[in-house]
Amino acid sequence: MKEKPENPFSPPSFSSEKMRPLLLFCFLSLLSLLPRPGSATDALTADQSLVNNQTLLSAGQIFELGFFTPGKSGNWYLGIWYRNIPERTYVWVANRDDPIRNPSAAALRIANGTLVLLPDQRANTNPVWSANRTASENPVAQLLDSGNLVLRDPTQSGRILWQSFDYPTDTLLPGMKLGWDLTARFNRFLNSWAAPDNPGTGKFSFKLNYTGFPEVFLFDSSSIEYRSGPWNGLRFSGVPEMQPLNYISFEFVTASREVYYSFHVSSDTIYSRLSVTPDGVLRRYTWIPDIGQWKPFWYAPKDQCDSYRECGAYGICDSNASPVCKCMRGFRPRNPEAWNLRDGSGGCARETDLDCPRDKFLRMRNMKLPESAAAVVDRGLGLKECGELCAGNCSCTAYASANVSGGGSGCVVWFGGLVDMRQYPEGGQDLYVRLAASDVGNDGTMGGFIIGLSVGLCVFLLLLSGCLVWKRKRLISAFRGQKNDHKVRRLGLPERSQDFMLNDVVISSKRDYSGERNVDELELPLYDFETMAVATGNFSDDNKLGQGGFGVVYKGRLLEVEGQEVAVKRLSRNSGQGSEEFKNEVKLIAKLQHRNLVRLMGCCIEMDEKMLIYEYMENRSLDSIIFSKSKSKLLNWERRFNIICGIARGLLYLHQDSRFRIIHRDLKASNILLDGEWTPKISDFGMARIFGSDQTEANTRRVVGTYGYMSPEYAMDGLFSIKSDVFSFGVLVIEIVTGKKNRGFYNPNDELNLLGHCWKLWKEGKGLELLDAAVGNVYSACEVLRCIQVGLLCVQERAEDRPTMGSVVLMLNSETATMPQPRTPGFCVGRSPLETDSSSGKQDVTFTVNQVTCTMLDAR
Ligand SMILES: *[C@@H]1O[C@H](CO)[C@@H](O)[C@H](O)[C@H]1NC(C)=O
Ligand SMILES: *[C@@H]1O[C@H](CO)[C@@H](O)[C@H](O)[C@H]1NC(C)=O
Ligand SMILES: *[C@@H]1O[C@H](CO)[C@@H](O)[C@H](O)[C@H]1NC(C)=O
Ligand SMILES: *[C@@H]1O[C@H](CO)[C@@H](O)[C@H](O)[C@H]1NC(C)=O
Ligand SMILES: *[C@@H]1O[C@H](CO)[C@@H](O)[C@H](O)[C@H]1NC(C)=O
Ligand SMILES: *[C@@H]1O[C@H](CO)[C@@H](O)[C@H](O)[C@H]1NC(C)=O
Repeated sequence: MKEKPENPFSPPSFSSEKMRPLLLFCFLSLLSLLPRPGSATDALTADQSLVNNQTLLSAGQIFELGFFTPGKSGNWYLGIWYRNIPERTYVWVANRDDPIRNPSAAALRIANGTLVLLPDQRANTNPVWSANRTASENPVAQLLDSGNLVLRDPTQSGRILWQSFDYPTDTLLPGMKLGWDLTARFNRFLNSWAAPDNPGTGKFSFKLNYTGFPEVFLFDSSSIEYRSGPWNGLRFSGVPEMQPLNYISFEFVTASREVYYSFHVSSDTIYSRLSVTPDGVLRRYTWIPDIGQWKPFWYAPKDQCDSYRECGAYGICDSNASPVCKCMRGFRPRNPEAWNLRDGSGGCARETDLDCPRDKFLRMRNMKLPESAAAVVDRGLGLKECGELCAGNCSCTAYASANVSGGGSGCVVWFGGLVDMRQYPEGGQDLYVRLAASDVGNDGTMGGFIIGLSVGLCVFLLLLSGCLVWKRKRLISAFRGQKNDHKVRRLGLPERSQDFMLNDVVISSKRDYSGERNVDELELPLYDFETMAVATGNFSDDNKLGQGGFGVVYKGRLLEVEGQEVAVKRLSRNSGQGSEEFKNEVKLIAKLQHRNLVRLMGCCIEMDEKMLIYEYMENRSLDSIIFSKSKSKLLNWERRFNIICGIARGLLYLHQDSRFRIIHRDLKASNILLDGEWTPKISDFGMARIFGSDQTEANTRRVVGTYGYMSPEYAMDGLFSIKSDVFSFGVLVIEIVTGKKNRGFYNPNDELNLLGHCWKLWKEGKGLELLDAAVGNVYSACEVLRCIQVGLLCVQERAEDRPTMGSVVLMLNSETATMPQPRTPGFCVGRSPLETDSSSGKQDVTFTVNQVTCTMLDAR
């Protein structure tokens, strides 16, 4: 116990640091005979009591239990908090709705065989709180390093009679279960504080519903605010950004006796917690000791589409679209007036009545699965049988895989209306929805699940249209004025006769339900494997330009096109996409054209080979220049400044001006290519689309994020946004100015990494000292400082503080634009709390904050 008050009722205190649980009880009986005031213990035995100003301290000194009074309320509570965190953070409160007014009289003690909290131990008052349990002689209460307060029965080898983990307050700690014990019909859920300084039962709760396909709901009193979506084996269907990291893992257990969600950390010294805040937001925080702050890690609800039933039945919410609600293909708004007023909650109605059993199923990608309390799950079925099951029962409206990990297994089928669906740009899962055959067919896409005959028909049509194109190309085609070799085909096919295939190719995840035709005149040459092999000297090592997470890049010469030099990116296999999906994505990416993006000249798809053909860049990549002693002199300030502005414009185009919002996710010096005039061109954009939901390094199946360029929220929670690109851009700017790599820079004097060092000098008004000496003496000090300031603004800790690329471009180009003062950069300190094993081999794609390495496991 920390301080020994002058209280005649206070118990003997004793020391018991780091006691082994097995020895605990022997020790206790001995030690209680030897009162030693002033030291702390983790346990309370019969006849002892804990009074105000005394605390229990867990053996590893991680958690502390005692009395506290939040804010200026004057109300006292018994609670548990982190011992080592200066900013008091309460993880559990015993008497949340029955505060104590007079703390000096209150005591926690074991009485009548249980743990009770007495408001006045001298008077014979009723306890304000007690631990519900079955009776036992002389139990012992102990505070564990997990933050769990347990009541044990020493006569039954320490069996747990009661534990605080079963009665959460507003916080889920590692190892705690959120959900049901079905044998005892007992639910553990989170409930917010009433206000930031009032731990009383608040309005918001986060509760698991185990019926159907279990999921977790955020309630405001009794109405649902947000739904996590069911657990699909990897993550909650409504949390596509959820990724297991090496220091935190998530678990969802569905068994006959219990159904719960839980998470675990790799070490007791990593503090992570999930809380429901008094304003009704679910937030996960992780403690970063070096900054001395709780870092927001994840939160929900995030956007309009997270609000429950935003678009009603059969409506799909897409937060990147405007309006956000759309009806699924084959459906129209039930109430068009309300719909036009942006109220989608009325949902959608079928355009064509179903005609079971002739109906078809439409495959919808990247979906958050509909609400599934009424769904039926069969984990033994595969997707095909699942389709048959659903097709065979006319009241079945949709089906999906119950477990997407390992390629998909299990079956879940829905009956009745499908509500609260949304579609993500990536990271969702496939949902197959029953539609009248004519609605699937009329629109000309195969989007759905097509079996047997129709697959055959389709292949035939594809071949036929392929033939037509081939023939047409032979007759009339010219490729840049050259006679076209018949090895070049084209994607695109804007003619009538190929409408069927066109639609098939054109549908993208964003548009396939909108009903809009998206006819594009863009033609993209499709080369065959042999042509590419010839062009690259059979993919010889001599022609190898580089190797990245997505595959190997070769230099090639296309004989078809006047021997033009090209860069051929041979994608690693298992890109996770079929040829059709790949074509769609390539077509989308080919439409992105900008002076500061590398131009895609064609592609090659043959069996499991996929290649992208880009224009060749004479000056290779930025990293080969700025970080090279001999070459960095080539980049004087003017060139550097132009490069910075060019990258900013390219990124702005990707984020805002292009037709699809593209988040690059792997912006770094080696992905900036330079042409003969030193114009920067961003490469590898859209790769995240091609590789599906994650940036997957196909061989290792790990998330690629480049070390040194990852924003804190991405590194820690796998959260991407345009602001994570902005962060990477900021790092890039600072690297271009300083000529130093963020990764690998370590200043032994001040333990700061490049960002931290840069920030320090800039704050001290010594910004110009950062400029790379290789630049020489000719530069505009004003521009240099402006770039550093923009760089620092972009790498700020909080994503909200970082500017958008739009304002970056403005700030870079205007001498008069007012710029905010940057705050501390994310990851500015050389040491990080995230301890990891340094044995992670070469296979792991890692990011590092100097000494510390974190590995992110791919979620798939
Ligand atoms: C507890 O400690 C505070 C300050 O440390 C003191 O003001 C207060 O009187 C103490 N209360 C008791 C009951 O000892
Ligand atoms: C213990 O039980 C007795 C009898 O049931 C009761 O009178 C007494 O108040 C109880 N003590 C506490 C601390 O609850
Ligand atoms: C203890 O049990 C009683 C009755 O079963 C219940 O009303 C009370 O809420 C329970 N207390 C706790 C902390 O679970
Ligand atoms: C789960 O949700 C269903 C449908 O909303 C509801 O009927 C049921 O009572 C809920 N079950 C629990 C345990 O909350
Ligand atoms: C269809 O499924 C529902 C729900 O499981 C069931 O009640 C009904 O009997 C099934 N109908 C047929 C024809 O199998
Ligand atoms: C999901 O599938 C993976 C891989 O097949 C398997 O390891 C895992 O146990 C499955 N999860 C559930 C809940 O069935």
